[in-house]
Amino acid sequence: MISNAYIVIFRIDVRSDTVKAIVLAAGEGTRLRPFTLTQPKAMVPVANRPILEYVIDSLAGCGVTDISLVVGYKKEKVMNYFEGGKKFGVTINYVEQPQQLGTAHAIKLAEDSIEENFLVLNGDNLTSPQAIEEVMSNASGDVTLLLTVKENVKGYGVVTTEGNRVTQIVEKPGTDISHYINTGIYVFAPAAFNEIPYTKISPRGEYEITDTIQRMIEKQYDVTGVHTTSMWIDASYPWDLLNANAAVLASLKEVPTQQDGQIEDDAKVRGSVIVGENSIIRSGSYVLGPVVIGRDAEIGPNVTILPSTSIGNGVTIDSFTEVRNSLVMNDVRLGSHSLVANSIIGKNTMIGSHFIAEQTKLAMPFLDGELHHVMNLGAIIGENCRFGHGILVEAGKIIGVHCTVESATTIRKNIDNYSTIV
Ligand code: G1P
Repeated sequence: MISNAYIVIFRIDVRSDTVKAIVLAAGEGTRLRPFTLTQPKAMVPVANRPILEYVIDSLAGCGVTDISLVVGYKKEKVMNYFEGGKKFGVTINYVEQPQQLGTAHAIKLAEDSIEENFLVLNGDNLTSPQAIEEVMSNASGDVTLLLTVKENVKGYGVVTTEGNRVTQIVEKPGTDISHYINTGIYVFAPAAFNEIPYTKISPRGEYEITDTIQRMIEKQYDVTGVHTTSMWIDASYPWDLLNANAAVLASLKEVPTQQDGQIEDDAKVRGSVIVGENSIIRSGSYVLGPVVIGRDAEIGPNVTILPSTSIGNGVTIDSFTEVRNSLVMNDVRLGSHSLVANSIIGKNTMIGSHFIAEQTKLAMPFLDGELHHVMNLGAIIGENCRFGHGILVEAGKIIGVHCTVESATTIRKNIDNYSTIV
């Protein structure tokens, strides 16, 4: 029997006050269209804040404040929002990846800022501070990957392990080799930079860091996996944003209700509800949290907003309309007597009165050349659309950006961007 005294664990020295993080935010996120046509996936809002803001907040919460942010697709959206990072309690150094040639390529571009062991994270996955803490405090060897279990591993890096050693990692395999997926959160020793140049281009035409890691495994580098059950959410498809939104809003339960706006006397606000500055909830309205309402919004009179809903800045919702489990982005106008459930409405879309997002238990949206099966899904509507009155959208239908739909129309199929439906 080996005595414990002989078992030495070499931990990587990762101190949160000195460790640097490379955050990858250059990708478009094509599967999340139409919401990524004008912004990178990392900037898509969930509970009124870009996904990337949660990542940066979590890093700051773990004391990691030195961030190299790799940007590419629509980089100005990221840079204008986060600037130098001061408002978010971090220092951001931008690294440009002009062509999206993959995660290994992106990490290599940030090499100059790195001297010691470093963290890498995806900027477009909702990541809790606990998840970051777990990978940092359990990091050992040359590479440490944070792993989680997923029923459907399609579209992920999939990992096999023996104890805490990673024995294989395959990027987006054709068959389910296991149910452990790579969250895209890693601690690397600088030696990884020497291996990146040997990474071969993948079937999707990118240099994948997971292929670099597989090569490192084959060369007997020490690659460790750390399992997490802490909050880590990837929104692959638009409807996944609803789950992400609900998860963030559920965490508000611990936050006391915060009302910077005005709530008229006979409006009822119950549960965790955040109402932003200069917003008004007019009489006869009922808001049941968790709900977040941005600033300059006008709700009601007589509007009902039910749990897991986020309402962006500058949104107007007219009387007798009900919204539940939905994500309504900035500057949307929603007409009276409408019913919006399990739906996403992109920014600056105007919808007339008597709008209905149809509900079925199981919707079958068609996206990315595939028919998906999604429970409880209403409508997905891109930004800058103009809808007349009395429009019904069948459950699971996706409407692109800048579409015009005339009054009294039923939408029974997906609508391409910039279409006019009469
Ligand atoms: C990347 C990684 C993949 C990981 C995923 C997590 O994929 O390459 O291994 O499972 O992040 O979101 P991508 O988002 O680039 O498709």
